[in-house]
Amino acid sequence: MIYDLIVIGGGPAGYLASERAGHAGMKVLLLEERNVGGVCLNEGCIPSKALLYSAKIYDYAKTGSKYGVTFEGASIDQETVIKRKEKVVKTLVGGVKAALKANHVEIIEGRGKIDGRDEDGFKVTCLNETYHGKRLLIATGSVPIMPPIDGLLDGFNKGFVMTNREILDLTVIPEKLVVIGGGVIGLEMASYFNSVGSEVTIIEMLDRIAGQTDLDISRLLMKDYEKKGISFKLGAKVVKLTSDSVIYETAGESIEVKATKVLASIGRRPNTKDIGLDSVNVETDKRGAILTDNKMRTNIAEIYAAGDVNGKSMLAHTAYREAEVCINNILGKKDIMRYGAIPSVIYTNPEVASVGETEETAKTKGIEYDVANITMRFSGRYVAENEGGNGICKVLRDKKNNTIIGVSLIGNSASELIYGASLMIEMEMQIDDIKELVFPHPTVSEAIREALFTF
Ligand code: NAI
Repeated sequence: MIYDLIVIGGGPAGYLASERAGHAGMKVLLLEERNVGGVCLNEGCIPSKALLYSAKIYDYAKTGSKYGVTFEGASIDQETVIKRKEKVVKTLVGGVKAALKANHVEIIEGRGKIDGRDEDGFKVTCLNETYHGKRLLIATGSVPIMPPIDGLLDGFNKGFVMTNREILDLTVIPEKLVVIGGGVIGLEMASYFNSVGSEVTIIEMLDRIAGQTDLDISRLLMKDYEKKGISFKLGAKVVKLTSDSVIYETAGESIEVKATKVLASIGRRPNTKDIGLDSVNVETDKRGAILTDNKMRTNIAEIYAAGDVNGKSMLAHTAYREAEVCINNILGKKDIMRYGAIPSVIYTNPEVASVGETEETAKTKGIEYDVANITMRFSGRYVAENEGGNGICKVLRDKKNNTIIGVSLIGNSASELIYGASLMIEMEMQIDDIKELVFPHPTVSEAIREALFTF
């Protein structure tokens, strides 16, 4: 059997590309070694949001008295939280499988490996069979980085150390959770376990949390979580793990923190090991990321790569769009990938969302900008719904062109607002034109519009 397209990896990039290609009438084979839906649906974006929503409800119950509502004896049942998360995942994975079936995509649950090419096309082996594809899409995603820290791997093998996968299955709330890495995964999970009662310590190598986020917002988020009881160790490098503790170094000092469980959230790397790239000479960079152009083409004609595996922007929503660009190009439609207005969100409570430049990146690029930095309390809706909230909205303007080049928000519903800002940036809208738009009232989105009037 010769397929028009063989897709390796069934995460957001792989399943969406398969669906679109199948819909366009291509004969598609999708190979997935774990679960259709990939990390996002099974052990990332979706299950973490299910957990965080339970924590949000619990937080509302605990702080309801501020709003005149008191709950007696609010409690959290971790086993039920996990069961519900599994139900959510099952529903969504079922939906993806049904869409693939409706678009006539053949799925094999096994590990695919590229094995060169012959006159029938590219060869891919899976469960001891060989399949031929006229084209390949590599969408194998990414895996957690496990640096050679003394005791880390041993701790992982003994169940003391977890990655994003294992932590989402914890049915017992750990008394002391130590999180290595104050990036996106670390912060979201720290937020959950802080809400449900763990004593949480975040150890971060840099002098700030939330890496690429605007510095003011990163500081605000940290202050907020310090108040809620999370302990942050910044400029702290983890050097060793024992069977019940994590040892880090800071300013030449070695400090030990006791832990019931440890989360390793130290970043992810493209998953390109042992998938047969050498057999077809696909080029990668030194991180192992597959090099792609803006049509998701690799250096080999008819081999494409989309999603985390190309290391460009390791986000599920980027993967979706890259998948579309890939299939559109295969179908001969004009389409290219643009990375300048991809939003990013940290689903803590309060949420953080940003798109485009921050002050730090604008400075580095030498862009002449000015900044509007206003409190979210300009929004009546925000005040009504966020007792004591201190969110901010920062908008960066390109002075030369009078366009918005970056928006960073901290405050609830930021995740739902940010796409509006992406649109303004992507369309290079003039600030004067945006000012003429009518925003719904009362909504938190009005803060963005309000910010523009300070220019
Ligand atoms: P990350 O890159 O966001 O953060 C890792 C952090 O670990 C960095 O701040 C780094 O300085 C720190 N670190 C590295 N080595 C260390 C050491 N030895 N000791 C202390 N700190 C150390 O990576 P993370 O959080 O693992 O997330 C991985 C990927 O998953 C990211 O690409 C992220 O975009 C994606 N993701 C996105 C989400 C979202 O969009 N909401 C949610 C979860 C993950």
